[in-house]
Amino acid sequence: MRRAIYPGTFDPLTNGHLDIIARACRLFDAVLVAILVNPGKSPFFPLAERIALIEEIVRPIHPQVAVRSFSGLLMELAREEQAQAIIRGVRSSKDYEYELPMVLMNRRLNPEVETVMLIASEENSYISSSLIKEVFSLGGSIDGLVPDLVIKRMKERK
Ligand code: PNS
Repeated sequence: MRRAIYPGTFDPLTNGHLDIIARACRLFDAVLVAILVNPGKSPFFPLAERIALIEEIVRPIHPQVAVRSFSGLLMELAREEQAQAIIRGVRSSKDYEYELPMVLMNRRLNPEVETVMLIASEENSYISSSLIKEVFSLGGSIDGLVPDLVIKRMKERK
């Protein structure tokens, strides 16, 4: 059984994330979307809503995906969940530079766990949760960049 963890903030889930989840599901038997509990940040969606939203959107398409929150070290979570790999989506060399120290630090913490960097398709390659929130808050269209249910829930929160 090949298990991977896809960690992140997912505030909100975007089509870029969905693209990476679909690719991870082709490589692994089980994919755990793990949302970091970050008390320092004030998110658009509270943690419980992010979990519910991802479950609602992803589970019907990819039954091998589970969703949970985590705090503390990602490598501790990997041990607890018996995951062999961490999935990260990389859009650019800037993302790569951001990821590399984390990959090496995580490898030092647990050499058994491999980080797998996946590339989203071109049309999703510029989407980020922060840009989505900015455009939405300024009244711009985010149609086609996040799932329709995310747009609906964002409008309900406005
Ligand atoms: O999508 P994000 O917000 O860039 O995700 C960052 C995340 C959650 C992958 C990273 O902050 C993380 O793994 N945090 C857990 C704490 C940890 O293990 N830190 C050491 C990593 S080198």
